[in-house]
Amino acid sequence: MAAASHRRAPGARPAGPGPATVVPGRGEGEPASGEPMQIRSLTKDDYDRIVSVVDHWWGGPAGERPHPVFYYELGEHALVAERDGELAGFLLGFVAPTRLPLGYVHLVGIHPDHRRQGVGRALYERFGARCQAAGARGIKAISFVGDESAARFHEALGFEVRVEEDYAGPGRARLVFRREL
Ligand SMILES: CC(C)(COP(=O)(O)OP(=O)(O)OC[C@H]1O[C@@H](n2cnc3c(N)ncnc32)[C@H](O)[C@@H]1OP(=O)(O)O)[C@@H](O)C(=O)NCCC(=O)NCCS
Repeated sequence: MAAASHRRAPGARPAGPGPATVVPGRGEGEPASGEPMQIRSLTKDDYDRIVSVVDHWWGGPAGERPHPVFYYELGEHALVAERDGELAGFLLGFVAPTRLPLGYVHLVGIHPDHRRQGVGRALYERFGARCQAAGARGIKAISFVGDESAARFHEALGFEVRVEEDYAGPGRARLVFRREL
């Protein structure tokens, strides 16, 4: 989907920084090889596309996960990854105004055909850099207990992984992922 076709509602938040080309598994700015990937700020067209693919990407009903607040009110630092103009992954997250500002990842999803190719890592690296520039000193995410792929993914990215009992209410433990920036 071409960036030029994106329409923005009156009063909607302004566009973030422009896209940058990265190569999965490599640092930004390194020479391109293989299939290059664009990482850029989330637009409304991207959000609409995300809503249409989450059930497929999660392998079941997941339509409530990308709540619109993560575009309209909390979308300033949200990101998408594209390959050949197609959505390869997304990261919905924001900088929480806690005493020590914190980057919080609400939802990250990678197209099933693009997994284990460094797309998730590249999205987290860019998001972490943007949060750091906005004053955050740490980054956090959560998932359900037993979500082994999320646990292994966050471990690989240097996160501490803990089970916190009652995190989401009595008897509702969660995996909590934390890393300093
Ligand atoms: C979890 C998810 C975001 C990972 O994204 P990804 O782009 O495939 O991850 P990357 O390729 O950047 O992986 C980086 C490292 O994390 C680890 N990792 C990633 N996915 C893993 C998995 N399923 N099992 C074990 N380790 C995994 C690996 O160490 C990997 O490095 P390697 O491929 O060189 O071994 C992706 O699988 C996904 O979208 N899953 C469905 C939605 C979901 O679970 N979201 C997270 C909820 S918190």
